[in-house]
Amino acid sequence: MGKDVIIACDFSSGQKTLEFLDRFGEKKPFVKIGMELFYSEGPEIVRQIKKRGHKIFLDLKLHDIPNTVKKSMAVLSGLDVDMTNLHAAGGSKMMAGALEGLTRADGTRPILIAVTQLTSTDTETLKNELLINTPMAETVMSYAENAKNSGLDGVVCSPLEAEAVHDRCGKGFITVTPGIRFADGDIGDQKRVMTPAEAKKAGSDYIVVGRPITAADDPVAAYMRCVEEFVD
Ligand code: C5P
Repeated sequence: MGKDVIIACDFSSGQKTLEFLDRFGEKKPFVKIGMELFYSEGPEIVRQIKKRGHKIFLDLKLHDIPNTVKKSMAVLSGLDVDMTNLHAAGGSKMMAGALEGLTRADGTRPILIAVTQLTSTDTETLKNELLINTPMAETVMSYAENAKNSGLDGVVCSPLEAEAVHDRCGKGFITVTPGIRFADGDIGDQKRVMTPAEAKKAGSDYIVVGRPITAADDPVAAYMRCVEEFVD
């Protein structure tokens, strides 16, 4: 499994996304398609981007009863995405169902990773609304362990948690880490960030980078800078 840079294509339309990807010419970066684009354009946008030669992380964060998730994952697998995800909070039966649904007739399947706790959930919410009294860090690690024990490939986490996840779940358990900023760039609404080079040192397997690339004057140069810092 190679390290890679995934561009978060958080655009509101398929047209804007394709125009953005046109700028990369023969380079075919790994792209993340989220709920906004998928819900506005439907599965056709996934097929189009795939046909252009990109790898796709379909970030739809499934969370439902095991049977529904299993059947939905079978549909996503048929779209030929390379990576997708779900909420570990759905439990191990749901995660096992997801794996079953994702696995194609020839035995291959997309990488499946879990969201542990959303970074928008703070300690107060965890305790007062979700009624989880275990500290956040331990909750996140325990959810990661459930994902691992259910046969998933990894988790989405902060690059600051990558090392702890690897210590607990093994080096081969994939960490996909957003919250990436260049040393001389804007932090924006992200709070705890790392540069691509720091994320590499921390052991991240994939970095997810949105605005530092999508909002750059020269997105291709910004992408190449990420690749140089993180991959090369
Ligand atoms: O623009 P930026 O680099 O902040 O984009 C990061 C991407 O990663 C966005 O698509 C965001 O939704 C996603 N993400 C995140 N933090 C998480 C999970 C996902 O920033 N904990």
